[in-house]
Amino acid sequence: LDNGVGRVPPMGWNSWNTFGCNINETLIKQTADALVNNGMRDLGYKYVVVDDCWMDSTRDSAGNLRANPSRFPSGMKALGDYLHARGLLFGIYQAPLDRTCAQYFGSYPGATGSQGHEYQDARTFASWGVDYLKYDWCSPTGTIDDQVRVFALMRDALRASGRPIFYSINSNSIHDKTGPRRNWSDVANMWRTTEDITNAWNTGQTNGYPMGIQNIVDVTVPLARYAAPGGFNDPDMMEVGRGGMNDTEMRSHFALWAIMASPLIAGNDVRSMNAATTTILTNSRLIAINQDTLGLQAGQISFDGTRRVLAKRLANGDVAVALFNQGSATTTISTTAAAIGKSGSAFTLTDAWTGATSSTTGAISASVPAHGTAVFRVSGGGTTEPPPPSTTTLVSASSG
Ligand code: GLA
Repeated sequence: LDNGVGRVPPMGWNSWNTFGCNINETLIKQTADALVNNGMRDLGYKYVVVDDCWMDSTRDSAGNLRANPSRFPSGMKALGDYLHARGLLFGIYQAPLDRTCAQYFGSYPGATGSQGHEYQDARTFASWGVDYLKYDWCSPTGTIDDQVRVFALMRDALRASGRPIFYSINSNSIHDKTGPRRNWSDVANMWRTTEDITNAWNTGQTNGYPMGIQNIVDVTVPLARYAAPGGFNDPDMMEVGRGGMNDTEMRSHFALWAIMASPLIAGNDVRSMNAATTTILTNSRLIAINQDTLGLQAGQISFDGTRRVLAKRLANGDVAVALFNQGSATTTISTTAAAIGKSGSAFTLTDAWTGATSSTTGAISASVPAHGTAVFRVSGGGTTEPPPPSTTTLVSASSG
């Protein structure tokens, strides 16, 4: 989407994975302070996204949305000001039909979706200083054409508000038959590729609720060709640091999100992270691969059902390569510089985890533990055409 924002994947934090509806302005401010103090803001984690349950259960007499007065007594404008004063950006959640997902499930009162209030709500968000809108379908019904019309309506309303607002959509919530059916790059800056992520490696399904890390990767890798500056596939907020995976799996989760040019939206409690989580989320080599200005999502070079090789061409001519072991035993994974789009016979490999460098005439290989991912930045030589990303067939684009 050409709206001036989202030229590289967004980075930040979202309240939902850890806190669900248990949010308030103290939590958000403490989170903002933590992002500043632990260095994450300066590494790029700038969007602080307040997910579902921030709103009052009714609109005011003029039909305006308003904050839940006990959770956000100072109001959303004040919260936005707090974030902006600290060099952060303000994200907020809303749903396009009559109710948000928590309202739909009855876990939160009211029915305050934007239906019939799109331009009004976009103006409200702009007046609060909102920089990022997560717009979440939250209905079991609706055809793909309904979704295109409704998501495009808010795109237009945001544009009309006059404020550049990053636009994140989710067509899949409570609507898992939709799946990755459409190239949404004309509508939004990012679009969810699956139903909700959960704090687990593998839930054994690729179309349903909830989705494990491995399952989301299986769905999102074939969508590589739809990522570009202005719009990215969204495999959901991260579960790094939430305790449902071992450290090897958490490292893979982060490395794969990074090389898939996925939004890096932390979902853990960043006020209290252990050393392993901090090391993963603040890996500047992986962040640089993710934030590369070419905005390409890694294409699949090879996959034998266990050993998956992904490569992402970078703006300076380097290529990042991930060697991902989906199996349950340690294995050696190999590729070559030629296979990932490099020409020549002298290359330097930089290990994205350790920073260690090594030389190669072309072989790229690593012993990778179960569920692990080795990542190298490959420099030197020339760069041939990037490998064609694998594709998934989508429904033909409706008007948007
Ligand atoms: C849906 C979304 C989640 C979260 C919840 C909030 O399930 O997919 O990311 O926003 O709604 O209710």
